[in-house]
Amino acid sequence: STPILTLNDGTKIPQLGLGVWKMPDDEAPGIILSALNAGYRHIDTAAAYGNEAGVGRGIAESDVPREEIFVTSKLWNDRQGYDAALRAFDETMDKLGFDTLDLYLIHWPMPAQDQYVDSWKALIRLREEGRIRAIGVSNFLPDHLERLIEETGEAPAINQIELHPYFQQSKQREVHAKLGIATECWSPLGQGEALSDPILTEIASRYGKSAAQVILRWQVQLGLVTIPKSANHDRMRENISIFDFELTEAEMAQIKGLDSAEGRIGPDPATAKF
Ligand code: A2P
Repeated sequence: STPILTLNDGTKIPQLGLGVWKMPDDEAPGIILSALNAGYRHIDTAAAYGNEAGVGRGIAESDVPREEIFVTSKLWNDRQGYDAALRAFDETMDKLGFDTLDLYLIHWPMPAQDQYVDSWKALIRLREEGRIRAIGVSNFLPDHLERLIEETGEAPAINQIELHPYFQQSKQREVHAKLGIATECWSPLGQGEALSDPILTEIASRYGKSAAQVILRWQVQLGLVTIPKSANHDRMRENISIFDFELTEAEMAQIKGLDSAEGRIGPDPATAKF
């Protein structure tokens, strides 16, 4: 079963979860039930995905107790600022139908808006009130992380960033390690792009595994949290069946060699516009 990592505030998080970006709200309950059946106990959603209600409904309808499922959501860009973030969090909780959230992230730093420190203060308050177990950020660059720590004395528990074999974020991971921040991978499979890579498929064939499983195993062995997205029950099962083999150091090094300066798929956090 999925290993559990301990974050800098003592919160425990299953190292592998299900991403639900682009899943329609009305399909989310079925997808969530399917994921829980496959053994997932960690779901990653966001206000911007428009499926918090469906995710909450799927969890409510399942036989798995709410407290056994780790749920993440995220504050969208147009709700940043202290008061706005508090209100946005209330709406997220209404949609999910939960009393407490496991992890809440600021979705993007949006440095031109210059509100992320105030948003962060709102998240600290919500955690102190017991409404969120752990707080973190997504797509924050080292400058943004350092500013949060400087202005509030509180480091995020986690930073969720684009990370896959073609965009490995080594420098950013070093900064996280230094600051005690866990790294979580979004688009861990490179949105499917890396799945036909000859090196990955060759490694996969040695273990009777798929390239997707090799990528996720690589992330787990690096100590990262990863949230592959799939709406298909067989692929969900495939993606969580990675705890029965181990990549060698040589294979880890081979995968390291796939990193590319041009590998980014998503927006650059310094300049992103939505
Ligand atoms: P599907 O939902 O049809 O399974 P990422 O998490 O990097 O954004 O990648 C998600 C994409 O990769 C989705 O299009 C998903 O499609 C596909 N995908 C997820 N798991 C697998 C897998 N094990 N094999 C092939 N494609 C996969």
